[in-house]
Amino acid sequence: MILVTGGAGYIGSHTCIALDEAGFDFVVFDNFCNSSLESLKRVEKIINKEIAYVEGDIRNANDLQSVFDNYKIDSVIHFAGLKAVGESIEKPLEYYDNNLNGTIVLCTIMKKNNCKKIVFSSSATVYGDPHTTPIKEDFPLSATNPYGRTKLFNEEILRDLYTSDHDWKVILLRYFNPVGAHKSGMIGEDPNGIPNNLMPFIAQTAVGKRDELSVFGGDYDTHDGTGVRDYIHVVDLAQGHVKALQKIDSLKEVLTVNLGTGNGYSVLDMVKAFEKASGKKVAYKIVQRRAGDIAKCFADPSYALEVLGWKATKGIDEMCEDSWRWQSNNPNGYTKS
Ligand code: NAD
Ligand code: UFG
Repeated sequence: MILVTGGAGYIGSHTCIALDEAGFDFVVFDNFCNSSLESLKRVEKIINKEIAYVEGDIRNANDLQSVFDNYKIDSVIHFAGLKAVGESIEKPLEYYDNNLNGTIVLCTIMKKNNCKKIVFSSSATVYGDPHTTPIKEDFPLSATNPYGRTKLFNEEILRDLYTSDHDWKVILLRYFNPVGAHKSGMIGEDPNGIPNNLMPFIAQTAVGKRDELSVFGGDYDTHDGTGVRDYIHVVDLAQGHVKALQKIDSLKEVLTVNLGTGNGYSVLDMVKAFEKASGKKVAYKIVQRRAGDIAKCFADPSYALEVLGWKATKGIDEMCEDSWRWQSNNPNGYTKS
C-alpha cells in the first residue's frame, strides 16, 4: 500500500486517481490545512470507490505511527507541506517546521517501520535563477526564499539518508508549473483567498471573481517581455508519480528528475490560450515585476523519458480547457460552491 501524504491537495488528489488507474492501493494522510475532505469525496466519485484516509499531521509521530499500525505501507509519496513563496518569507519558522520537521518525523517513522521508499515533491525553484534554459537536473542549485530552501534541504536530507543506508530508495521529482485539472471538472486547484499563481488568477478573472490580472513585468528578456514558464498539466504530473513508483524498486542511487514539458510559455501566451479555451475575455494590465521572479524557467525533460519512460502529453490548450471546466463548474472552489 502507498502512503500519500498531502493526498487531499491539488497534486495529491490527481495523483490518487492515477494511482488507482494503475492498480496501486493507497491511503491518504492529510491535516487539511490547505485542502478539504470534499476533494477526497470527489475523487471517490471519479474512481467509484471509497478512499482510505487518515486525518493527521506529518509533524506528529503518533499520527503517522497509527497509519503504519493500520496499513501495510510499502512506499510513500510525500506531497504534504506548505507551498506559498510569499508566505514563507513572512513566516519562515512555520515553513521550516512544516516542511523540514515534517519530513524528518515522516522519515523517522518510515525507518522505524522499515519502510524506506519515498517519492518527494521537489520543485524547479531549487534551480534559483538558472544561467540558461532549458534546465537540466545537474544545473547548480540555490534558493532565494524559505520555501525554496525547504525544498533544497529536504533533497539533502533524503540524499543523506541514502548515504547512511543504501536500502533507502529515494526519487526527487522537481515539478515545473503544475496547472489544469481532471477532465471531469470535479477536482482542481482551490487556492485560499487571492491566488498567488498565474493560472488560478487567470481562471478567476475569466469567471468574473477578479477584475483584472496584474501581469508582473513587461520588460523581461523574453519573446513578449513577460515571464516564461514551463506549465505542466497536473494529470501528466500525476502520471509521473506512477512511473516513479514503478521504477523505485530497481534504483541503485537517488534519482532526481525534472517533470516539465520542455516548452516555455509567457504570461501573455497563457492569457491568450485561456481566452480561447473559455470564450471569455481576461482583462489584464502590465505592472512592475514581482520581487524574486525570474525571466525564464523551463525544463529539459529528456532524463524523465530516459529513466522513467515518462513524458508530458497535454499541451496548453488542454491545460486551459480543463482549468476552465473546473473553475466554471466550481466558481467558489470545493467548500463554497
Ligand atoms: P496543496 O497545498 O494543494 O497540497 C498539500 C497538501 O498537504 C494539502 O492537502 C495540505 O492540507 C497538506 N499538508 C500541509 N501540511 C501538512 C502537514 N503538516 N501534515 C499533513 N498534511 C499537510 O499543494 P500542491 O500544489 O498539491 O503541492 C503538493 C506538493 O508539491 C508540495 O510539497 C509543494 O511544495 C510541491 N510543489 C508544488 C508546486 C505547485 O506549483 N503546485 C510546484 C512545485 C512543487
Ligand atoms: N504572474 C503574473 N501575475 C500573477 C501571477 C503570476 O504575471 O498574478 C506571472 C509571474 O510573474 C510568472 C508567471 O506568471 O512570470 C508564473 O507565476 P506563478 O506564481 O504561477 O509561478 P512561479 O513560476 O512564480 O512559481 C511556481 C510556484 C513555486 C515553484 C515554482 C517552480 O509557485 O512554488 O513555480 O516550480 F517553486
